Amino acid sequence: MEREAIGILGAGWVGTVTAACFAELGHDVVVRDVDSARIEALATGHVPIYEPGLEELLERNRERLTFTLEIGDVFRAARLVFVCVGTPSTHSGDADLSAVYTVLDEIPEVDHRVVLVMKSTVPVGTGEKVRGALDARGLAHVGYVSNPEFLAEGTAVHDFSHPDRVVVGAFATDDGESVAALYRPLEAPVVHADVASAEMIKLASNAFLMTRISFINEIANVCEATGADVVKVAEGIGLDHRLGPHFLRAGIGYGGSCFPKDSLALKQLAANSGYHFQLLAAVIEVNELQKRRVVHKLEKHLGTLRGKTVALLGLAFKPHTNDMREAPSIVLASRLLAEGAKVRAWDPVAVDEARSLLTGVELTDSLLDAVRDADAAVIVTEWPELQELPTEAVRDSMRTPLIVDGRNLLDPASVREAGFTYEAIGRASSLLSGLPETEEPSRELKA
Ligand code: UGA
Repeated sequence: MEREAIGILGAGWVGTVTAACFAELGHDVVVRDVDSARIEALATGHVPIYEPGLEELLERNRERLTFTLEIGDVFRAARLVFVCVGTPSTHSGDADLSAVYTVLDEIPEVDHRVVLVMKSTVPVGTGEKVRGALDARGLAHVGYVSNPEFLAEGTAVHDFSHPDRVVVGAFATDDGESVAALYRPLEAPVVHADVASAEMIKLASNAFLMTRISFINEIANVCEATGADVVKVAEGIGLDHRLGPHFLRAGIGYGGSCFPKDSLALKQLAANSGYHFQLLAAVIEVNELQKRRVVHKLEKHLGTLRGKTVALLGLAFKPHTNDMREAPSIVLASRLLAEGAKVRAWDPVAVDEARSLLTGVELTDSLLDAVRDADAAVIVTEWPELQELPTEAVRDSMRTPLIVDGRNLLDPASVREAGFTYEAIGRASSLLSGLPETEEPSRELKA
């Protein structure tokens, strides 16, 4: 394999993982970010994000990695420059492409051919616009390739080295080939597409994954109403090879830096083109409602939540990350506070990140501190540590030994055997759990 000089613009989560993984493949990588603290940290071996395996990878490939604040350093060294800047939502739900356009404005004069490779998630049509902007700036010799990322947080390093597919959308065949060649050692199928289709593959893949989650969450809600068990149902669905087992875990909804933002961006992209994407609108709405269902479950057992103490266990949007972006815990905490509950919260890694987002919530250093004298413990994120939740120590320290398992992490029978009242998502619960009568039955029970 030919050793390439690769540039990375944006040392966020995608940029840093991509840089480390290309260095691991033997390439020289120059990473540029505008945040001097971040560059300083990375240059001195500190990784400002939590991603399993990343720190070791950066350490192992130190001599192939350079970190800089100067965009000129990147364009002087590299032939392939990956754009990994953020594309957050605007108020309208559109993707904010200002960081992408800033990059275009900053491209320096170079005397060799450079290919910009778009890794950031962008609306369909962005490549066409960037191509136009490059041409207008007299940069026709700068190529453009769309190469979306499919990494999931918490498993990103593994995902990079074991991709299901590599998608390459290019205006010029040679540019696409140069990008595809980087991934050859990974032996993954390569989908060569036009730029717009490559952009759509990324958005549609995420939308499909979200659709599966909202679908199984609605099935879970119907299971609750009819006595079926969604975990069994998902097992039975997933064995159909046409459907597959993935993304059928019912819970309190999806969050994160990608799904909420990308679903809005795709819905808005369709709307901007005059199309109402009904299915996606429903997927988003189901997810919003799903985060709030835990409140009704608590009321069912505790009556009014005013003055009750609820422990939220796991705060990051998923396990093995400290990322709190759009985490369901944020909405849940504020709904509980609005009901007058006292909210305590614990997470094995995301406590610092949670502090500014969960105002009015008491963050604790240990799980036991969170559940002490609590009226209920809610599993919000399925950290493996929480598998050990139903212990005697936890049961004895709670005021009411009630566990609401928002991720179906625990085995219902053993939790009940351990002396807890247990409520999950889409699993036969109150009828089988031998619940004590509450003094103040909830609206749901009365109905
Ligand atoms: C997601 C995609 O999985 C990646 O392929 C994609 O590259 C990435 O977005 C992106 O666009 O950058 P990520 O957000 O890191 O990755 O995490 P996921 O594992 O997909 O989980 C997203 C959310 O869905 C989490 O809140 C998780 O708890 C929830 N989820 C996932 C469920 O509720 N049920 C499931 O069955 C699966």
